[in-house]
Amino acid sequence: MDDYANTLTHIIYVSTASDIFNVEQLPALLEECRARNQRVGVTGMLMFSGNSFFQIIEGDESVVQAVYSKIETDPRHYNVVKILEEPISKRAFGEWILRFCVVDQEALTELGADYDEMLDEVPLTDSRRAEKLVTAFTSGKWTDWLQRMEQSALTKDTSDISFAFQPIVDVTNGKVLSYEALVRGPNGEPASAVFGSIAQDNLYSFDFHCRKVALDIAKECGITTNLNLNFTPGAAAIEEFGLDRTLSYANEIGFPQEQIIFEATENEAISDYPSFVASVKRGKRYGVELAIDDFGAGYAGLQLLSEFYPDYVKFDMALVRDIHRSGPRQAVARAIIQLCDELGISVIVEGVETVAEYHWFRSLGITFFQGYLFAKPLFEGLPRVKIPKVTLRAAEKIQK
Ligand SMILES: Cc1cc2nc3c(=O)[nH]c(=O)nc-3n(C[C@H](O)[C@H](O)[C@H](O)COP(=O)(O)O)c2cc1C
Repeated sequence: MDDYANTLTHIIYVSTASDIFNVEQLPALLEECRARNQRVGVTGMLMFSGNSFFQIIEGDESVVQAVYSKIETDPRHYNVVKILEEPISKRAFGEWILRFCVVDQEALTELGADYDEMLDEVPLTDSRRAEKLVTAFTSGKWTDWLQRMEQSALTKDTSDISFAFQPIVDVTNGKVLSYEALVRGPNGEPASAVFGSIAQDNLYSFDFHCRKVALDIAKECGITTNLNLNFTPGAAAIEEFGLDRTLSYANEIGFPQEQIIFEATENEAISDYPSFVASVKRGKRYGVELAIDDFGAGYAGLQLLSEFYPDYVKFDMALVRDIHRSGPRQAVARAIIQLCDELGISVIVEGVETVAEYHWFRSLGITFFQGYLFAKPLFEGLPRVKIPKVTLRAAEKIQK
């Protein structure tokens, strides 16, 4: 193995074994992983303790990332949390295709003492950081943390929030393109009441929690179209609350990932732009689509548009309101529509309340709409859609 040809990288993560995995499957899992790692030149180690995994994989950066992206969505585990990804000068496990260690005696006993490859001591030489993390794992620190994370998710899941769904309609055929999940209180209280009770420093974990609950309810409602899930860019850039975790969760509950459209709410400046873009790009690999919400109102609209290349742009409601009466708003709207056309981005006009607003945008060729005119959000359900008739003449009149 040539360690100098490409950037060597290691990724270290922890995860929780899922219900479909039991300890007897460990030898088969190891065999499978070793064969794969050998083929692509990846080395490393895997530990199992209680029901948590801890793994280090190392090799060429792109290879390691590709292997990790598969591991991340493997249904045999969940809560896959990347602890570290960084370049390394030298492999710490150069000789090991995937060394395996069982930390707790119970699992070893269950597997039978003859499984002699399983060690309970890990000699680490070349990566002090990895060594420290292994010690943290073996001493139970990460396992505790994972358990706490699960418990807090469980208590929150029991009904502190719920969701209403509002359709985005394709008016050319009357079909629903997607349902946007809108957060509500457990009894349908408005979003403002829900957000009002969230401490500022919990915002990102709450954002992540919302996407999980939205997926649960969308699944219960039997959504077969796309599903728009909102996310705060700041949360997406954080490993433990990001889009990858949402996708893993979708996978876990059997909601098709390719039906998800992530909506970036432009309500805060993005501080860690590279992490944000990287997490969005990873989402694209799973067929996820991306939308910028409230376009024209927020902090980083044009930067987002040019760098993260969304599939959809949703017009800010303030721009839509009474558009037929405001010359300057019309000029801005036309410019955005033209820009989106040139970049191959679909426009969604949201917050449409009147036929006049609808006519104005329809006459410019817009086909995706959302708003009270078509359907109000329905609490924990999928509302019926009505599409007002629009004649070309009426639309032309409005244009003038
Ligand atoms: C805990 C755990 C560790 C894994 N480690 C590796 C690994 O080191 N290398 C690897 O290729 N696959 C590993 N896998 C398996 C991958 O998740 C995945 O099943 C495999 O890459 C095949 O993906 P594919 O069928 O989409 O090609 C691991 C799975 C689990 C649950």
